[in-house]
Amino acid sequence: MADFTHKSVLVAEVLAALQPRPGGRYVDGTVGGGGHAAAILAASSPAGWLYGCDRDSAAVEAASRRLARFAGRFELRQASFAELADWVPAGSCDGVLLDLGVSSPQLDRAERGFSFQQDGPLDMRMDTRQSHTAADLVNRASLDELSRLFWELGGERQARRLARAIVERRSERPFQTTRSLAALIEQAAPRRGGSTHPATKVFQALRIAVNDELGALRQGLDAAVKILKSGGRLAVVTFHSLEDRIAKEFGRTQARDYTFAGPQDVPELRRPRAPELKVLTRKALKPGAAELADNPRSRSAQLRVLEKI
Ligand SMILES: C[S@@+](CC[C@H](N)C(=O)[O-])C[C@H]1O[C@@H](n2cnc3c(N)ncnc32)[C@H](O)[C@@H]1O
Repeated sequence: MADFTHKSVLVAEVLAALQPRPGGRYVDGTVGGGGHAAAILAASSPAGWLYGCDRDSAAVEAASRRLARFAGRFELRQASFAELADWVPAGSCDGVLLDLGVSSPQLDRAERGFSFQQDGPLDMRMDTRQSHTAADLVNRASLDELSRLFWELGGERQARRLARAIVERRSERPFQTTRSLAALIEQAAPRRGGSTHPATKVFQALRIAVNDELGALRQGLDAAVKILKSGGRLAVVTFHSLEDRIAKEFGRTQARDYTFAGPQDVPELRRPRAPELKVLTRKALKPGAAELADNPRSRSAQLRVLEKI
């Protein structure tokens, strides 16, 4: 049985946000190793209910083991949180958690292909039922497409230069492993004394693209609002600025008492409507010193909390 240890981030803050109560109904859309889910089930004992999902079958298995002591109080599925509204009843939930990104077991297992620090197949699929992998993207996307991905999803300044190096190299020999891609990037953009590996941003961009993480997040936020009841809370933990911007903008838009047509908010063109959400965190919450010391991965975590009106 594979080990699946993952330190859950901001657990106390997530519990404070969702305020689980006995008999409440909760959703963990990124169940991972089941740390947050176990905390929610414990806090909503004896009769709280949890719907949990993860795109990764290994995470769903790990979470079922971790939650065994709460048998009869949860349902777990291998699914994207983008599809939550397809199986969780509308207006039924007191709280929804989305703890985004990758888990340590995904990063640590070479065969999943997420990490440039270990040699594995260039895969990066969270859901291995999906057909296209990072290798497909790296070996088939056009120069323009790769350079746009590296820039927009990775914030990589040398996006075009790295995309060009990849396109040249793949015409001789397609990329199959994480190591071969990391080595090419290191060669094309050598480290200049920085502490981060030169492949960090490209790997982040590929992972986000392969799993359509930003599209899934937009759909997941909409789905969460549908399944929440009035007064129910949505807690979103993000790990990079692209995700955080989407969560923040979503809260802002849904909290407005008007909509506007077109890309710009022109006061004369506003149409009144009842706001759907209240933003409970004007500023995102971040881990405290103790958590940062205990779990370096929590460094970039930010929590935003919204409440359905
Ligand atoms: C940071 S981990 C979650 C850890 C979990 N909260 C815990 O306490 O163990 C992120 C998880 O989200 C999953 N994930 C990412 N995008 C997803 C999506 N669109 N739908 C469902 N799960 C997703 C990943 O597979 C990963 O297991």
